[in-house]
Amino acid sequence: MNLKHLVRHSLWLTCFYYLIDDWRTARRLARGRLETRSGKRHDALALDQSLAYIDRVHGDYCCYGGLARFEGSIVEIGPGDNFGVALCLLAGGAAEVHAIDRYVPERDEVAQRRIYEALARRPGFAALFDGPPGERTIRGLHYHPGTPAERFFHGATGRFDAIVSRAVLEHLYDPLAALDDMARALKPGGTMVHRIDLRDHGMFAGHHPLTFLTIPAWLYRPMTRASGRPNRVLMPAYRSWLARSGLDGSLRISRLAGLADEIEPVAIEALDPALLGRAVDQVRTIRTRLAEAFGTFDDESLAVSGVVLVARKPSH
Ligand SMILES: C[S@@+](CC[C@H](N)C(=O)[O-])C[C@H]1O[C@@H](n2cnc3c(N)ncnc32)[C@H](O)[C@@H]1O
Repeated sequence: MNLKHLVRHSLWLTCFYYLIDDWRTARRLARGRLETRSGKRHDALALDQSLAYIDRVHGDYCCYGGLARFEGSIVEIGPGDNFGVALCLLAGGAAEVHAIDRYVPERDEVAQRRIYEALARRPGFAALFDGPPGERTIRGLHYHPGTPAERFFHGATGRFDAIVSRAVLEHLYDPLAALDDMARALKPGGTMVHRIDLRDHGMFAGHHPLTFLTIPAWLYRPMTRASGRPNRVLMPAYRSWLARSGLDGSLRISRLAGLADEIEPVAIEALDPALLGRAVDQVRTIRTRLAEAFGTFDDESLAVSGVVLVARKPSH
């Protein structure tokens, strides 16, 4: 067994690896080096796969938000290594898109150029570029690298028509405080749409899918804080936030523990009982090992490993 396999195999060596890695990340960030390889990487995709992904994410935002298109001033949190979704939002009628990111995801120039050139050939897209198609020439795009969501919305009131994110809120240190700020930052009638992945993002690959919930909080925090690894804020916390937010909204389930495939987002009551039962069985096999913070959660709450949160600010 080589060293990598040995570390992966042992829970405690894996935790030790993340402690060191997080400490090194904090030092790197403190020196202003914000690059990351996290998230969907378009250099690993063929052009048609990249375009399909961009269309899917944009289509999901419209569908989840119940909107034909987004208008006005939009914030996309954590766009990853490409602004194709922002372009689709602009092409659909948004006046401007603020793309904010705590880090600077690495980009492959060739893959990026191919994507922007392909998008520019779509009807109505060419006019969105102020020069050769590329991320620096997109009219109406305001990129804020090195700006965490926790900071961007703080103090803003009634500024944005919509705030969207996918696979980002699970990386925030305090997503509920950030959601409070986002709710304030929305204009009356504004909408937010967040797809949140509650899995461990491969931290304990090869172990039970809920292994990350067995690590005590005092150890988990220094393993994850700087690197933005999953914050372990689970479905009940988002449900409570929505209930006290004063916004109209819904929380739908998009993933279940131990099931590889995503599901079409549905209310928890509408879940297929057989699928939910399989996920609950997974929970039961690890329940006695869960860290204190999760011991009081019911089986169904722990079985949910992905949600879509949609919230609309009342118009008056
Ligand atoms: C998993 S990637 C998702 C990228 C893209 N939304 C997608 O679905 O393909 C997470 C993104 O969120 C960014 N991110 C992580 N923590 C953040 C924070 N606190 N504030 C803003 N962006 C953050 C990362 O740099 C990255 O761009």
